[in-house]
Amino acid sequence: MERVFGRPLVTQEQMRTRIRELGKQISADYAGKDLVLVGVLKGAYAFYADLARAIRIPIHIDFIVVSSYGSKTKTSGKVKLVTDLTESIKGKDVLLVEDIVDSGLTVQYLLKTFAKKKPRSLKVCTLLSKPDRRQVAVPVDYEGFKIPNHYVVGYGLDYQQQYRNLPYLAVLDLTEDEA
Ligand code: IMP
Ligand code: MG
Repeated sequence: MERVFGRPLVTQEQMRTRIRELGKQISADYAGKDLVLVGVLKGAYAFYADLARAIRIPIHIDFIVVSSYGSKTKTSGKVKLVTDLTESIKGKDVLLVEDIVDSGLTVQYLLKTFAKKKPRSLKVCTLLSKPDRRQVAVPVDYEGFKIPNHYVVGYGLDYQQQYRNLPYLAVLDLTEDEA
């Protein structure tokens, strides 16, 4: 079924402006360091591509693929690493790039898993954050936008694997059956 989306919650122009700022800040903070930008797929793909090109220092790019089990719109917190990194991050400065921090359980799992790989530093950059939904406190070092407690799609984020290619962020109004 084709859905019609209303007014964007975050427009393409707002994304562009904010990501440029984040890129500048990260470039300054990591100047002279050995930065590995790790994208958490699939959700972060759009943000990652834009953020990486807004960073003006040399970086390594790498990705992981994770899946979390749960209902259609809520994670159970049981995160599975489907595909691991391609390069060692030992002694490197790692920045995890996420689409959204919701309950915080995914980031909590990733920080624990990545710490075992002995990076020199380990930080988190997320495009979006829903602070009202946090179940565990996690450090978020770079954040694009705080958003209210709505289920959102577009710009990489999905509902049942759809709408990731919507070029802006939209609120998806879900019926009880769909949530
Ligand atoms: P967590 O609850 O912080 O562990 O977030 C887990 C994952 O749920 C995120 O990485 C997203 O992929 C997904 N997620 C959370 N909120 C939304 C949303 O509003 N739209 C689409 N995906 C979401
Ligand atoms: Mg997802």
